[in-house]
Amino acid sequence: MSTVVIVGTQWGDEGKGKIVDYLAEQAQSVVRYQGGSNAGHTVSAGGKEYKLRLMPSGILYKGTHNIIASGVAFNPRVFFQELDAFHAQGVDVSNIVVSDRANVVMPYHVEADKLSEEFRGKHKIGTTHNGIGPCYMDRDNRMGIRVCDLLDETNFKKKLKFMIEYKNHELTSLYKKNGLKYEQVLEEYQGYAERLRPYVVDTVTMINNEIDEGRRILFEGAQATMLDVEFGTYPYVTASHPISGGVTTGAGVAPKKIDKVVGVVKAYCTRVGEGPFPTEDLGEMGNKLRETGHEYGTVTGRPRRTGWLDACVVKYAGLLSGIDYMAVTRLDILDDFDEIKLCVGYKHNGKLLEGIPACLTTLAEVEPVYEIFKGWKQSISGVRKYEDLPEEAKAYLERIAEVAGMKIGIVSVGPDREETIVVANHLFD
Ligand code: GDP
Ligand code: IMO
Ligand code: MG
Repeated sequence: MSTVVIVGTQWGDEGKGKIVDYLAEQAQSVVRYQGGSNAGHTVSAGGKEYKLRLMPSGILYKGTHNIIASGVAFNPRVFFQELDAFHAQGVDVSNIVVSDRANVVMPYHVEADKLSEEFRGKHKIGTTHNGIGPCYMDRDNRMGIRVCDLLDETNFKKKLKFMIEYKNHELTSLYKKNGLKYEQVLEEYQGYAERLRPYVVDTVTMINNEIDEGRRILFEGAQATMLDVEFGTYPYVTASHPISGGVTTGAGVAPKKIDKVVGVVKAYCTRVGEGPFPTEDLGEMGNKLRETGHEYGTVTGRPRRTGWLDACVVKYAGLLSGIDYMAVTRLDILDDFDEIKLCVGYKHNGKLLEGIPACLTTLAEVEPVYEIFKGWKQSISGVRKYEDLPEEAKAYLERIAEVAGMKIGIVSVGPDREETIVVANHLFD
């Protein structure tokens, strides 16, 4: 048995795509288990940059099995756009399958996402407008259209007719917008159905068979711990479970079949959208992090909010997902900083807190307890061995590991595959 889960420990965009792609060389399958086209994972390989939204980040390795499991909010329009774009770039896309149980993102989900955000006004979540929340809402309300329904023409027509009627009621009466046309949606989605058929399998059986055969499987988390619908900064979260437990519900894999968990930790912190962010730096240093790190969203192009690494958040992620190793990314972005701040605790009303407060008012009021680290003031992108990192960088990394209570597995010093320092070999053993 050889399964490794990769999870984001902060608010997303930690570099999960890079780490999954790096580890995928040793894996035989890569599985996406939650989220959907709201994700934007970037992989740099062979001098090219690839953007992935629904595709598992194993797609660049010929022979690696890429699986979109049932927990993914599956948008066929985006799927085929991505598939065609990869094909045009010369990537072999034949090795991908999609779960028959995945819920399908429909045009009314995307519409509802935008309109609901507009309606909420200053109470908006700041979603990516990909229809992810509304798609999971329908699933949980037992009104979802699943991939297996899409492939069953009679059933699909019946379900779609009812859903268009239902959603048009919402669009016209609640939002005062025009409704969607049944025939138009039917035609578009029937087109997808025919193209999708050869990709669709029972991924529960497939993944579990692969585990039993001892294949090396990577589970690729999208979004991150602090965006988890239950444990994140609710309501400023996504609508799924990015934590490692999401693998059990999103891929149909029993908890005892998960061997190791790697938490991806960006060497500083970013957030897109609304919601509290205790270590946010709204000053000069925050701007420097944004500009040096080119912190603008992959999917939306929005400037990301920036701040210092919050080890309380990383520790919380470790607790929730059982993280064994951390993969620290983007350490090179800190190359030119005189001082680096690390949050090691929260104070509220003068008292040190244990854990992350559920109440957002409290979280917005916490005072981060910072430790200041000396910067290394040199380029580290060429370093390939941990011992060759500057002492200042090692001191910073080791303190993160100590506060978060996890081991250092990987240190990433640049976007490319080669710009990686492996500390813990044999993750799959
Ligand atoms: P994800 O959503 O967690 O996969 O992360 P994103 O792809 O949205 O954002 C991470 C960005 O950082 C991407 O552009 C990566 O190519 C890039 N990246 C990953 N690791 C490193 C690193 O160690 N250094 C630098 N400079 N860039 C990195
Ligand atoms: P990756 O996988 C960063 C954020 C959105 C918004 C909230 C809800 O690239 O790390 P949604 O569209 O999911 O309903 O939006 O979640 N969000 C992300 N932020 N990285 C992501 O994915 C994100 N996916 C969603 O900005 O605040
Ligand atoms: Mg991203």
